[in-house]
Amino acid sequence: MTERRTDAQRRHDPTVRGFASDNYAGVHPEVLAAIAQANGGHQVAYGEDQYTEHLQRVIRSHFGQTAEAFPVFNGTGANVVALQAMTDRWGAVICAESAHIHVDECGAPERVGGLKLLTVPTEDGKLTPELIDRQAYGWDDEHRAMPQVVSITQNTELGTVYTPDEVRAICEHAHERNMLVHLDGSRIANAAASLDVPMRAFTNAVGVDVLSLGGTKNGALFGEAVVVINPDAVRAMKHVRKMSMQLASKMRFISAQFEALLARDLWLRNARHANTMAKRLAAGVRTVDGVEILYPVQANAVFARLPHDVTERLQKRYRFYFWDEAAGDVRWMCSFDTTVEDVDGLVEALREEMRR
Ligand SMILES: Cc1ncc(COP(=O)(O)O)c(C=O)c1O
Repeated sequence: MTERRTDAQRRHDPTVRGFASDNYAGVHPEVLAAIAQANGGHQVAYGEDQYTEHLQRVIRSHFGQTAEAFPVFNGTGANVVALQAMTDRWGAVICAESAHIHVDECGAPERVGGLKLLTVPTEDGKLTPELIDRQAYGWDDEHRAMPQVVSITQNTELGTVYTPDEVRAICEHAHERNMLVHLDGSRIANAAASLDVPMRAFTNAVGVDVLSLGGTKNGALFGEAVVVINPDAVRAMKHVRKMSMQLASKMRFISAQFEALLARDLWLRNARHANTMAKRLAAGVRTVDGVEILYPVQANAVFARLPHDVTERLQKRYRFYFWDEAAGDVRWMCSFDTTVEDVDGLVEALREEMRR
C-alpha cells in the first residue's frame, strides 16, 4: 500500500528511458546508498571531512602518488577551474573546435575564466601534434595570447577515443614547447572501458598534467573533480576553486560518491555497460537500410545521419537530439541504466520510420 502510494506520487515514469544524454539517467543505487551512508552527524565543511580525506587515497591509487583531487559541482566548473589554475592572465588554451569548453560551456572559459581559446578543426574530435601546431606558435609575440595549455577530451565529444600512445605524443609535443596538458575526462570511465586499460594508462602514465574527472555521467548524482597530477602545473587551486564558485560546503557528499564509484569497480561496470549498449545500438542501426553511422563507435555514443522527417517522427517515440540539424546528424547516448530492450526498441522504431 505504502509502495503503491509512493509510485503514484512520482512525477515521472521510472521505466521510460531515452537516448538524449547520459545525464538523463538517474543515480546508481550504490552511489545513492553511499550518500545515505555519509549522512548523519556533523563533518567539517569545505573539504576537511573524512570522506574527502579518504578520497585522496582512492585518487592516488588511480592517478599516482602526486595526484590530488579537488571536488567541484559540475564539469564546466572543473574545466574552468583547472584551466584558470594552469594559465597566466595572458595565456591561451589550444583545443579542438568541437571541444565542450568551446561549444557547450556558454563561453564560461572566456567569460568566467578570462581565457582565450585557440581552436583547431578536427576530423573526429581528436587533436594530434600536427593539428596542435596550427595554433602553437608566437610565444614571444605580445599581440597574440600565449599558448600555455593543450586541452583534449577523452573520450571526445564525438565518441572517439585517444589511444595511450596518442595522448603520450600530444603530451611530449606540448611539454617540448613549454605547454601543459589538460584532459577533460567527463567520460574518462567510458574511454578506459573501451581501451580496456586503467585510467592511468592515458593520464599520469603518459604525461597529462591536470584532469577534469567526470562523475555525473558515470552514475553520480552530481559532482566532478579537478585532479591535479602534476602539482607544478597549477597555482592557487583552492583559491581559484572558491573564487569560481565551485567550492562545496558539504563536500563530503561529492567525495562519498566518488569513493563509491572509484574505490572498487563500479566506475568500470557502469562504463562497460554503457559502451556495450552503444555497440549493440550501432550494430542494430547498421542493419537498417539508408542510415549512415558517422564516427567509429568507441564509447557510449552513436552518431548517425537520418532524413529529417524520420528524425522528427522518431523523436516522438524516443528522446534524442540533433547534433547538427542542417546536416541531419543525430546523437544517441547510452548510459549505465540503458537496457537491451531500450536499444532494440530504438532500432525497431528506426526501421519502421525509415520504411514509412
Ligand atoms: C566533454 C564534456 N565535458 C564537460 C562536460 C560537463 O558539463 P556540465 O557542466 O554540464 O557538468 C560535459 C557534459 O556534457 C561534456 O560532455
